[in-house]
Amino acid sequence: MDMFCVDGGRKLRGTVRVEGSKNAGLPILAATLAIQGEVVLERIPLLQDIVTMRRLLQSMGATIDDDRGSSLSVDTREVRESVAPYDLVRQMRASVCVLGPLLARFGKARVSLPGGCNIGHRPIDIHLRGLAALGADIRLESGYVVAEAERLRGADVDLGGIFGPTVTGTCNVMMAAALAKGRSVLRSAAKEPEVADLGEFLNAAGARIGGLGTSVLEIDGVDELHAVRHRIIADRIEAATLAVATAITGGDVLIEEAPTEHMTSVIQVLRSIGIVVEAEGRALRVQGTSDYRAVQLRAEPYPGLPTDVQAQLTALLAIVPGESRIIDSVFPDRFMHAAELVRMGANIRVHGNAAHVCGVTQLSGAPVMASDLRASAALVLAALAAKGRTEIRRVYHLDRGYHAFEKKLNSLGASIERRTDQVGPQIVPAPHLDLVRSAIRQRAGTK
Ligand code: EPU
Repeated sequence: MDMFCVDGGRKLRGTVRVEGSKNAGLPILAATLAIQGEVVLERIPLLQDIVTMRRLLQSMGATIDDDRGSSLSVDTREVRESVAPYDLVRQMRASVCVLGPLLARFGKARVSLPGGCNIGHRPIDIHLRGLAALGADIRLESGYVVAEAERLRGADVDLGGIFGPTVTGTCNVMMAAALAKGRSVLRSAAKEPEVADLGEFLNAAGARIGGLGTSVLEIDGVDELHAVRHRIIADRIEAATLAVATAITGGDVLIEEAPTEHMTSVIQVLRSIGIVVEAEGRALRVQGTSDYRAVQLRAEPYPGLPTDVQAQLTALLAIVPGESRIIDSVFPDRFMHAAELVRMGANIRVHGNAAHVCGVTQLSGAPVMASDLRASAALVLAALAAKGRTEIRRVYHLDRGYHAFEKKLNSLGASIERRTDQVGPQIVPAPHLDLVRSAIRQRAGTK
């Protein structure tokens, strides 16, 4: 298992480029299962979750060719298998996005139900409700969702839930409705740019989806989707993470290819804290200052502040004077990073869906553990600002969603070394080892 050793206290300076969006790339790769022809995807990010989705497609019989520079070709015409096995789905919840396209194409899909998750309870009831409304017969069998339908039919579907719209749920039902017979109207749909990008991709392949980027999608089903070439949008969450990294070190960085049009709420929040943020063409210039203010924030569905930036902002607010509060109304339990930040000297209390952060003057390096993707990013950012060395274990969480993150930050002047974690976080402390050894000796009848 890899870990990071970060020597903090260096200001980030220079220019860096944002990759393609993970959360657009994943459902778009899943959607290739519904397409009769070669799909060429540009700006597909080289990160672990994308590798997992590729393996899932290949396990079903897809041909994937990545020997084309920065683009990837996917051909699913030979796919005969409509099963997504537990071993792959358990590694990545977004695998559930294959449910809609498999069902639309084969009339049957068997997809492992995603299990527990470190950012909170994440049911897929709305995905299933939406597919059922399109005429699918859905049952649960030995941990698998089994969905069947001779031909999906268009319907009026409400995708609303108590925590707001569902991003991958909207993707799943939209992909199914694109190939259903007749017209569908999806209400309370997610407006995230990644959902709209999937819709643009499907439309370029022959689908007829209107209302993209709004909460009502009108879809006229078509019989077949054809070959297509598509450039995936840039990753607004990676761009935001790099912006917060710059701000937390008081640095000055030009973030190229930042999708500024999708970052309005993030830019507003950064400015309200006192960070200088300017759009320069397709780039975002971020400059830290010595005059940051505490703020009250709420993570919400798009166009609100993304929950995927909540942890990184919590790390920044940990060193901003005054009392800040950050509520996560999308994933109310997504605060695993708080306890690790406290180990670095932060003053954070979590109550329900809110973190109360009392800014401290300085964080200090400490051994910490990453619990999920964005929590890992928050720990890296905190480590950049901390005094001394921070060791971050379980960075495989980070690799799921960021490509060569430490290399990018090092190119801006950070000092992050990736090492193999020889010891591992699960080491049994020496006194316990002694107890275990003596118990074994006693059982074996020796002293
Ligand atoms: N929800 C339900 N029922 C459902 C689906 C969702 O109650 O059937 C609830 C969830 O429990 C949550 C809320 O609705 O409280 C929103 O969840 P959503 O379904 O939108 O999340 P998701 O589609 O599983 C995607 C991103 C996440 C991102 C969320 C919210 C992908 C692959 N994942 O997840 O990204 O946090 O939307 O924007 O697109 C990340 O990149 O780190 C990440 C976790």
